[in-house]
Amino acid sequence: MGFQTVYREKVDYINQGLAFLLSQRESHPTILDAIRYSLQAGGKRLRPILFLSAYELALGDCSKAQPPTLKQDPILSMSCAIEMIHTYSLIHDDLPAMDNDDYRRGKLTNHKVYGEATAILAGDGLLNLAYEVMLESLPADPNKQFGYLKAMKVIAHSAGISGMIGGQSADIENQGVNSDESMLSFIHTHKTEALITGALKAGVLACREDKEVLEAVSGYGKAFGLAFQITDDILDLMGDLNQLGKAPGSDERKGKLTYPAKYGLKKSQIMASQYIEEAVSLLQPFGSKSEFLISLAESILVRNR
Ligand code: IPE
Ligand code: IPE
Ligand code: MG
Ligand code: MG
Ligand code: MG
Repeated sequence: MGFQTVYREKVDYINQGLAFLLSQRESHPTILDAIRYSLQAGGKRLRPILFLSAYELALGDCSKAQPPTLKQDPILSMSCAIEMIHTYSLIHDDLPAMDNDDYRRGKLTNHKVYGEATAILAGDGLLNLAYEVMLESLPADPNKQFGYLKAMKVIAHSAGISGMIGGQSADIENQGVNSDESMLSFIHTHKTEALITGALKAGVLACREDKEVLEAVSGYGKAFGLAFQITDDILDLMGDLNQLGKAPGSDERKGKLTYPAKYGLKKSQIMASQYIEEAVSLLQPFGSKSEFLISLAESILVRNR
């Protein structure tokens, strides 16, 4: 099966899981609507796909683990929870107090449709729902429970103040400030790379604690995550609203510290390619088992959304 087909299958699987998990909730209709609006607006589903792919890589000769197929499968719940955390971060990132953006995933941003108060609550709601969903799916088998809880801890850490939120805080504080390369690197590693690497590590831990795979996906995630945010910065300069689903020019308007702003376009493109080369090389020893993750990394350099 080709890369695009496998990718599409994973997206469908995650989308079905999200729809199923949302259908089980009782809540005030407005908040459920607002959550559904952003969660089901599309999106590449990159982080849950990285989680699932790392799980599959670790599965290798893990004869006891079952590939995720069931709707209430802990692995499906965890992959959906990661997407919920990511979607909450986008809703809050777009708020007037943060990046003040009007378009996301090809639609008006959450606060443009539901107002700021509901958008804040939708983000808060998604973050809580993520942990609720993971805890509801805690495996009954104590042996599997331990790995699952370790994976949850990694997700909490990478999305929290030592990861994504720390990066978002630095991103906001450095708007319109000509800070140095180390600050730029701090922002990108924390606001974006942390959750990407966290998703990959969680995928391995939820399966089995294989040191070799864990180390490889950690290095892959670090390089992939940086390349991903560099290409996000580049698309903000050169992208197209219709393809990208969000309006370019946002970073310049806010005076964001980005790779193109610091290093120029050409050098940023070269840096992104170098990071992807590094990510690919780290997974090559796994042969055909890492084919999908390698193609996924390569696709980052040619993405337009
Ligand atoms: C956007 O992430 C925010 C960044 C960290 C760059 P994505 O580009 O993965 O957004 P979706 O999920 O596809 O909408
Ligand atoms: C956001 O980075 C990273 C998050 C944690 C949400 P950006 O602000 O560059 O993401 P976009 O360009 O709005 O998607
Ligand atoms: Mg931002
Ligand atoms: Mg933004
Ligand atoms: Mg951006």
